[in-house]
Amino acid sequence: MAGLLPHEPGPCIAPAAMADPPFTPDRPIVLVGLMGAGKSTVGRRLARRLRLAFVDSDEEIERAAVHSIKEIFDRFGEAGFRDGERRVLRRLIEGEPKVIATGGGAFMNAETRALILDRCLAVWLDADLETLAGRVARRGHRPLLAGRDPLPVLCGLAEARNPIYAEAHIRILGDSGPHERTVDRIVEALAARGTGA
Ligand code: S3P
Repeated sequence: MAGLLPHEPGPCIAPAAMADPPFTPDRPIVLVGLMGAGKSTVGRRLARRLRLAFVDSDEEIERAAVHSIKEIFDRFGEAGFRDGERRVLRRLIEGEPKVIATGGGAFMNAETRALILDRCLAVWLDADLETLAGRVARRGHRPLLAGRDPLPVLCGLAEARNPIYAEAHIRILGDSGPHERTVDRIVEALAARGTGA
């Protein structure tokens, strides 16, 4: 039996990740929710599942400003950060459909929110406060939590923000289980909704 020539492709066994995406969105999918909800981790996995690009708005702000979020807060205050956040999100929403993980406060800006609700599929990643507090306690880079007990801060933020996150097209209640399970739920909810908002 003749062996394969070097230039001959071998038998093609598609790995699971290469299977057809379960849902093809016609607009960006934007993850919103409190700090610790898993927007970046889940977003990255969701993008891989849907074969879309992934962007994290905080990382884009840092890239554009050439400063970390903490440095931006220190030098320009929260108002300066929010202004950069609004401009970066406007840019990210334009262009090809992609998965965008936003910082927890981004959806609070009326202009950004209107843009997301009009041109994207907004997914609110919700979770109970103990889960969120447990996650954020593992990393100390968030200016709003610096030197503070995260649970009461998150509690106050949830009270103010949850009614606004609730405007998102889809709400997914995550848990402390594997992120892939949350991705499964998002994909199901998106598919049930169809490709348009
Ligand atoms: C913020 C959340 C952070 C970051 C900034 C402010 C907020 O992003 O944008 O520290 O106002 O909730 P994550 O939600 O990704 O932690």
